[in-house]
Amino acid sequence: MDLPEFELERYFAHYEFEVPHLLGASDVEAYRLDELLALSGEEERALWGELSLGYTESAGGPLLRGEVSGLYETVDREDVLVFSGAEEAVFVLLNVVLGPGDHAVVTWPAYASLHEVARAAGAEVTLLPLEHERGWALDLDALRAAVRPETRLIVTNFPHNPTGALPDAATFRGVVEVAREAGAYLLSDEVYRLLEHEPSERLPAAVDLYEWAISLGVMSKAFALAGLRIGWISTHDRDLLRRCAAFKDYTTICNSAPSEALSLIALKAREKVLARSREIIDRNLPYADRFFQEWRGVFDTESG
Ligand SMILES: Cc1ncc(COP(=O)(O)O)c(C=O)c1O
Repeated sequence: MDLPEFELERYFAHYEFEVPHLLGASDVEAYRLDELLALSGEEERALWGELSLGYTESAGGPLLRGEVSGLYETVDREDVLVFSGAEEAVFVLLNVVLGPGDHAVVTWPAYASLHEVARAAGAEVTLLPLEHERGWALDLDALRAAVRPETRLIVTNFPHNPTGALPDAATFRGVVEVAREAGAYLLSDEVYRLLEHEPSERLPAAVDLYEWAISLGVMSKAFALAGLRIGWISTHDRDLLRRCAAFKDYTTICNSAPSEALSLIALKAREKVLARSREIIDRNLPYADRFFQEWRGVFDTESG
């Protein structure tokens, strides 16, 4: 498999734990273990205390999958497959869905694995630029024009890393329509979902809109637990889930038991967890604005 260096992750590997201030972090300031345990109810506290440190169920524990399914409107726990981070989910899913002869359209700029794993799996990839001059808008006509008969997958990521772009619901439904007309899967990377500044602008999860959509979620961002390395996909395509589960037998087989138990605690307490994350972001946003104003000769603060 021919994968280029993941430059962003190499950059973090070099600087993340060395510098006093990290301006490029994409996750919310993490919980400490004692802070998280303080949010647990009696039942989860008992599960944590008695936790067996053996292998876990390869699809993810049923309690955890059940709690994840509660983040969606139309999903039950059998529609959820848990991975060691969103990154593993992307790797497995793209390898299962794509192969030589397939074509994928990936919105761009993008977290690199979304296009590089697709390429390494043998697919031809069209990068669809978000329009910088229009606040990083997604151009539905350009998406339609990029689709070909062999297009098997469309990949979006909203709220978007790295621009924060968030289309309106009509545009997002337009993406779903393009995928439907093309008979293509839609991978919707929703790892920043639930962090919207205006909850009323939150997009529906793709899995709730389209039978061939795959919603990607993770504990790292909105739930402030990146070190747990727990992510998931949810889709109504059970055969796709079955094939992803079979591929996962060659990557991690199953997830870490403590990470699953702690994810369950955080998801059960999600109102508090998400309120904390949004509060941290709201508190820090003025500092970021001030910093970029002060350095406006270095950063472009006018567009986007
Ligand atoms: C858009 C996007 N997708 C997926 C991931 C992978 O998430 P994780 O590292 O928690 O597996 C990231 C991480 O930064 C991301 O920004």
